[in-house]
Amino acid sequence: MGPGVAKNVQDMEFRIFQTRLTEACGLDLSCYKEKQVQRRLKAALAKSGHISLNEYWRTLEKNPEMRRELVDFLTINVSNFFRNAERFDQVQTKILPELLGTRKTLRIWSAGCSAGQEPYSIAIILREMTGTTRHYILGTDVNKAVLQMARDGIYTEEDVKEVKPLVLAKYFVKQADKYILSNSVKQMVQYKIHNLLSDPYETDFDLIICRNVMIYFTDKAKSDVFNGFCESLRPGGVLFIGGTETLMSAPNYGFELIHPFLYRKVCE
Ligand SMILES: C[S@@+](CC[C@H](N)C(=O)[O-])C[C@H]1O[C@@H](n2cnc3c(N)ncnc32)[C@H](O)[C@@H]1O
Repeated sequence: MGPGVAKNVQDMEFRIFQTRLTEACGLDLSCYKEKQVQRRLKAALAKSGHISLNEYWRTLEKNPEMRRELVDFLTINVSNFFRNAERFDQVQTKILPELLGTRKTLRIWSAGCSAGQEPYSIAIILREMTGTTRHYILGTDVNKAVLQMARDGIYTEEDVKEVKPLVLAKYFVKQADKYILSNSVKQMVQYKIHNLLSDPYETDFDLIICRNVMIYFTDKAKSDVFNGFCESLRPGGVLFIGGTETLMSAPNYGFELIHPFLYRKVCE
């Protein structure tokens, strides 16, 4: 078999595998950048010890736990509290005071929240700023396992590396090598399983945080999600994106750039 034919067979295997995984797990991999998915799949295949994706699938179809682990691996869930702390400082000093000037109770959505580090960071800031837990903070992710970790609220040294010492002392208890988040913060966040690519979005948010989630989405998928976020925000609401992301042609989606990585929904 020539290299061209072998490549075609591999591409076909990849597409069949992708369809099977989408049907079995509800995660549409065609909305993710193909090269990234292929690279991760190759790594998973090598680790599994199978010689082809077809053979790998034969094992996966009998084993829901292994399928779930593969989806976890493909969706990548690295996070930490106050990730890129200077950005959270900006949210605390510029964005939240402005939003709180118009509403006493904020509605905030952390989309693709991983194990809760991001929504809990916002919960801590709001608690410090307003002294109350009355805000609605929603954390969603497509990955059920990370949401359970979020509800448990038990973190590693790496997770809390950007937390200021005073905040760490106030809201975490150290037990052996783990950091246990205080219930007063945990109770401020509600978690729901949610796929940004297929589930309906809640509305009337003041702030949507979606960072390091869409980096692997195709341009079409990103565009759909940005449109969805704009509809989900109330006029004047703010979208907070990741440090390696940009919202190209922001006005086309109904946004204006107000600070780096922060966009406001333009009032109609
Ligand atoms: C790299 S983490 C980012 C966590 C956090 N936002 C941060 O910046 O630290 C990406 C998260 O996006 C989630 N994710 C990937 N695809 C998703 C989708 N289609 N819908 C919802 N969440 C998704 C993953 O499960 C993962 O937890």
